[in-house]
Amino acid sequence: MFRIEAEDPYPDIYEATVARNVAEQNSEARPAIKGVIPSIEGYQTVLLGCGISNVEPPMIMRTFVESVDPSGTTIFPFVTYAVSGLGRTIDDYIRLCPGSTIGDGLAIHREEAADAEAEVDTWLRTIGLLPP
Ligand SMILES: Cc1cc2nc3c(=O)[nH]c(=O)nc-3n(C[C@H](O)[C@H](O)[C@H](O)COP(=O)(O)O)c2cc1C
Repeated sequence: MFRIEAEDPYPDIYEATVARNVAEQNSEARPAIKGVIPSIEGYQTVLLGCGISNVEPPMIMRTFVESVDPSGTTIFPFVTYAVSGLGRTIDDYIRLCPGSTIGDGLAIHREEAADAEAEVDTWLRTIGLLPP
């Protein structure tokens, strides 16, 4: 497991984070990731999680997929959200990762994330990563 965190941390204030996110989207930014990004060579399946920002994965997720080159893998996206569900997540990854298969995604409401074990379990069974 690798936790994707920004080298330059996002502000604690929501409005400031929204403003930075919009600026990053508008400029097609690739925010730097903190730490050493591990190689995923040899992995067949990647579970890629994030909180939804402005109806899509934040730009730092693009930094990640462009850094690791997930070609040949199957990516299963999962997100937390407030209103948008998966939003444009699936379309984004299809476009960003043309060498990968993008599998079924999971969207968990942010207020239910702490109690989502059963939902996550069901999803993992549905996508074949746990026995039925
Ligand atoms: C910059 C920013 C933009 C966001 N945009 C959306 C959005 O468009 N749709 C949505 O459902 N949630 C949006 N959210 C809410 C996040 O998805 C939510 O904060 C995230 O899932 C993590 O949950 P938490 O705030 O409880 O830690 C946004 C949050 C931030 C910080």
